[in-house]
Amino acid sequence: MESEQDPDIQLLPRGTFMCRLCEVNVPNRASLEDHKKGKKHQKLCSIRETRKVQEEHSLFVSGFQHGTSELEITDHFQRFGPVSSIIMDKNQGVYAFVEYGSIESLQSALAEPEHIMNGKRLKVKPREKKEFKYTPKKKQAPSNSLLPSLELLSPVLCQANDVDEQMEKLVQLFGFSESEERLRELVISLIQEVFSEFFPECKIIPFGSTVNGFNIHCCDLDLFLDLEHTKIFQAKSKGSNEQTGVIEDTQSEDSILSDIDLETASEAEVLELVAMVLRKCVPGVHKVQAVTTARRPVVKFIHKDSGLHGDISVNNRLAVRNTSFLKLCSALDKRLRPLVYAVRYWAKQKHLAGQSSGRGPTLNNYALTLLVIFFLQNREIPVIPSVNHLKELAGEGDQCIIEGWDCSFPSDASTLPPSKNCESLCTLLSEFFNFYGQFDFVSSVICLRDRKALPVTAFLSNKEGKSPRLGPVNILDPFELCHNVAANLNERSEQRFRKQCLEAAKYCRSLQYQRKSAKGKVWGLVRLFNEDSVSAEGSPGVPGEVSQERMVIDIPFKLASLSEETRKKLCNSDDFRQLWFGWVSAAVLSVLEDMLKCTCCITPAALQYSTTAEHCAKLEAGEDPHTQLPELSTRVADHNEPSDEVLDGKNPPEVNSNESDTTASMAGESLNSSKRHRCSDGGASSCKKLRFEPENMAGNASWYCTLWHKVWAGRRKMRRDILRGLKASRTDENDDDNDGGGIDLEARVSEAIAQQERASGNTSEPVLNFTLHLEVVGGTESTRTLAVITPVQDASGLFQDFFHFLQLFLPKMTEKLLEKKIK
Ligand code: UTP
Repeated sequence: MESEQDPDIQLLPRGTFMCRLCEVNVPNRASLEDHKKGKKHQKLCSIRETRKVQEEHSLFVSGFQHGTSELEITDHFQRFGPVSSIIMDKNQGVYAFVEYGSIESLQSALAEPEHIMNGKRLKVKPREKKEFKYTPKKKQAPSNSLLPSLELLSPVLCQANDVDEQMEKLVQLFGFSESEERLRELVISLIQEVFSEFFPECKIIPFGSTVNGFNIHCCDLDLFLDLEHTKIFQAKSKGSNEQTGVIEDTQSEDSILSDIDLETASEAEVLELVAMVLRKCVPGVHKVQAVTTARRPVVKFIHKDSGLHGDISVNNRLAVRNTSFLKLCSALDKRLRPLVYAVRYWAKQKHLAGQSSGRGPTLNNYALTLLVIFFLQNREIPVIPSVNHLKELAGEGDQCIIEGWDCSFPSDASTLPPSKNCESLCTLLSEFFNFYGQFDFVSSVICLRDRKALPVTAFLSNKEGKSPRLGPVNILDPFELCHNVAANLNERSEQRFRKQCLEAAKYCRSLQYQRKSAKGKVWGLVRLFNEDSVSAEGSPGVPGEVSQERMVIDIPFKLASLSEETRKKLCNSDDFRQLWFGWVSAAVLSVLEDMLKCTCCITPAALQYSTTAEHCAKLEAGEDPHTQLPELSTRVADHNEPSDEVLDGKNPPEVNSNESDTTASMAGESLNSSKRHRCSDGGASSCKKLRFEPENMAGNASWYCTLWHKVWAGRRKMRRDILRGLKASRTDENDDDNDGGGIDLEARVSEAIAQQERASGNTSEPVLNFTLHLEVVGGTESTRTLAVITPVQDASGLFQDFFHFLQLFLPKMTEKLLEKKIK
C-alpha cells in the first residue's frame, strides 16, 4: 500500500520497508513514519526538489571554443533573461549548463534559431532530466591539507642550519605570496562593490587568517558584513519618507532593502538575503549556502576562479576585534608567528586540529593560536603580556566594548616595551610541548586575560547565564568571557592532545631534534612532524592507560558527570581536588564494600602500599599482619593527627557502619539492605571503629581489603538473571535512578555469587587480600584519582583476574555513584 502512494518507499517481505531515496531499510510502519520525518529524508527531498527546479531551468550548451570563460557564456545567454548560474565541465571547454531564473527566459533562448559565439555555432538544448540519486558527499578536503606535504617540506627544512631557521622557513613556505594577497583583496573588493549596490554604506571586513598574521595558502576567506551604517541609512530614508509623505527614489527603494527592515529582521533572514545577493549577483561565486544554525551563523560560498572558500557573517564584530588582537600579538613578538605555524603543522600531522579525520573532534586554528599565546604568557619571563595588562596600556582611542565585553588594547605594538625574554624558537617549541604535556586540562580554564589557568570550579556558578560551556579542554576566549573556544572537544581529544605533547616533548629532548644531522638524515622539525618516527620510540605514561606493573586504576575528574548539587559544592572551593577526592574515596569504598562485599579497613600511613611486601611476607608465614600495627589512632583525614579511636591491635581497622556517613549517604536506601558488614559469612574477627571523613581527605588514603568471593566470575550472567527476575516482579527495580546508582543490584549480584559458592561447598576463606591506595593527582597533569591495588595474599593466583574486572568496574561504578548520590 505504502509503495503505491509513495514512489520512494518499497514494501519488503515481513512488513518491512525500504526507502529508495535514502537507501535504507526500516523495520516497520511506525519507524517508516519517523524516518520520513527525519532530517536525512527531509534534506534529500529538498535537494531533489532543488535539482528538479535547476534542471527545468537549465540549458545544455556545447560547441564553444576551448577556453571560453563563464563570463562570455553568461554574456551571450543573458540576452534572453537573467542567468542565475553557469556550470562548466571540469576541462572548461566541452560543455556548460546555463541556468535561468525563469522558464520564460529559457524558452526564449531555446526559441532562438541559432546561437553563434566567437564565430562558433553552439549546440543548445534543454538539460536532460535525470533521476535523482543520492550519492553521499565526499568529505571536503580540509583547508589545512592544502599545506605542502611533509615529503615536499622535508628537503627544504633539512637544509636549514638549526631549528630556528627551520621554523622561519615554515613561515616563508606557508604564508601568502604577494599575488595571493592581491587576489584576496580583489575578491573582497568585488564583493564589496556588489553588496554596496544592495546594502548602501555597508562594509565588508575580512577577519581570521586572511588578516591576522597567521595566513596559510588557500585558508578560508572569513568576511564580516557590517550593516551598521546601512541600518542608519535605511532608518533615515524611512523617516524622511514618512515626514514628507513622498516616496523618494532613494537607493534603498531601488535595492532589496525595501523588502526588509534591518533593525527588526532576524539574523537568519538577513543571511538569506546575503545568500541571494551572492548567488545571483556576484560573478564567479557558486555553492552558496546559508548555515543559520551554527553558533555564529554564516553564508558559505566558493569563488570559482580563485578557488577561495569563503564565509560571510553579519553578527561577528567580536571576531573582527579578536583578529586585531592576534595581529597585535604577532607584532609584539616576532617569535609568535613561526611558533604558531610550527604548532599548527604539527597538530595537523597528528590529527589534533583542523577538520576531523574521523578521530573525534579537534581544535580549531583559533583555539590552537590561543594555546600558543597562553604558553608565551606563562614563560618565566613572559613573551606576551596578559590581556588585562594590555587593557591597562590601551589609549583613549583604543577603548572598545563589544556586546558588553571589554575589548580594549593598544592598536600600535610599537608603543609597547618589548619582552625581555630571549629564548630561542627551538627552546620555546620544545617547552610548548612540555607545558601542555603536563597541563591539567580537565580541571583548569585557560584564561588569557589573567595569563592564568583558573580552577574549573570558579566557573560553575551560572552568573547571569554567562558561564562558558565547560568540557575536558577549556580555553576562554580573551574577550567573550563566556565562550570556551574548545568546547567541542571530548575526553579522548584531550587525552590525545596531551599524549602527543608528551611524545613531542620527549623527542624535543633528543639530539635529533636539536642538531642538524651530519649524515644527511632527517632531523629537527621534520622528525617532529613525521607521524611514525616519534611514537615508534615508545610513549610515556598516558592518562587512561593502565600500567600493568603498578596495577593502577585511573578515575578521571569528569565535571560533566557530576550532579548539579555536587557542582555547586565544588563551585569556588579553594581546593576542589581535595573535596572531589574525598567523594571519590567514599564512592570507591562503597563500590568495594556495598557492591562487592569486600571488607575494607583504613590503614594508617605506616601501612600504606609501600609496606605491602612486609605484609605479604607475614601473611605467607601464616602471621596476622596487623598484630604489630603501629599507632592506629590515625584518621584518614590526616595520618599524622592522632585520633581518639584506637584499634585493639589485633585486627585490621574497619569503617564503621554508624560513622561512615558519606558512604551511607551515597548508598542511600540500599544501605539498610546491605549493612556495613563484615562479609556475610564472617571470616575476619571484629574490628574497631576508625572514622572516615571524606570531606577532610588529605589527598591520599589506604585501605586493607579482604575479598571473600570470586565476585567477578559469571557476574554478567548473574546480573542478567537477577534483572530478569526483578523485571518480572517489579518494573522499576532495575532503574538505576531508584537504587542509589546500582548499589542494590550490584550487591544482590555479589550476594548471589557468594551463595552459589557456599552451595558448592566453598569455605569462608578469603579469596584475596589486597591493599588499596588512593591518591589524587593533578595540578601539573590532568586531575584524577589513582587507585593503586597491590595483592597481599594471592595464594590461588586470582589477583590478575580480579584486577582486570576491577579496571572497568571500579571507574564505572564510582562515576555512577558520583553522578547520582553525592549530596
Ligand atoms: P579559524 O579557527 O578558522 O582560524 O577562525 P583561522 O586562523 O582563520 O584559520 P583557518 O581559516 O582555519 O585557516 C577564524 C576566525 O574566527 C574567529 C576568530 O576571529 C578567528 O580568527 N573565531 C573562531 C572566534 O572568534 N571564535 C572561535 O571560537 C573561533
